[in-house]
Amino acid sequence: MKTITKALIEHHNEMRKLVKEIKKDPSKFIFLKKHLDIHHELEEDLLLSKLHVKKEVKAESLESQEEHFVLNILLLDLADFPKDNARWMVKFKVFEEILDHHLTEEEEDLFPEAENILSKEEQTASGAQFMELKERRLLAALETKPVRELEKPKKAE
Ligand SMILES: [Fe+2]
Ligand SMILES: [Fe+2]
Repeated sequence: MKTITKALIEHHNEMRKLVKEIKKDPSKFIFLKKHLDIHHELEEDLLLSKLHVKKEVKAESLESQEEHFVLNILLLDLADFPKDNARWMVKFKVFEEILDHHLTEEEEDLFPEAENILSKEEQTASGAQFMELKERRLLAALETKPVRELEKPKKAE
């Protein structure tokens, strides 16, 4: 059974791949936005909400949530701003730096602490919930044009 932190890291890596692809083809940005919207929501519901109440990780956990807020604003700007304008890629690279920092901080600081604090049962139960909800929400989110014409999400191995 996959733990919640392992499942989240797998999703991080999926999104890192998408970031690389978007640099060659900005039209794929919409996929990343949908992945990240779903990721933030599920990460907050299934992990951060449990860490906010643990004094050992409260500060890091709240920081993670505030970074989601910043990233969400940048995602909205990137979604709105014309992709044929040269500034779009400049904006995207700034967004990439902030995203990168966020993912690394979760993986190196927050998640190892969460693994120590939460019970193994809780970690695997939330992991299973994450995998199921993520697949379901991605399928629903990508069921709209023009995304449908490009690519369906790949099943996690
Ligand atoms: Fe995350
Ligand atoms: Fe996050």
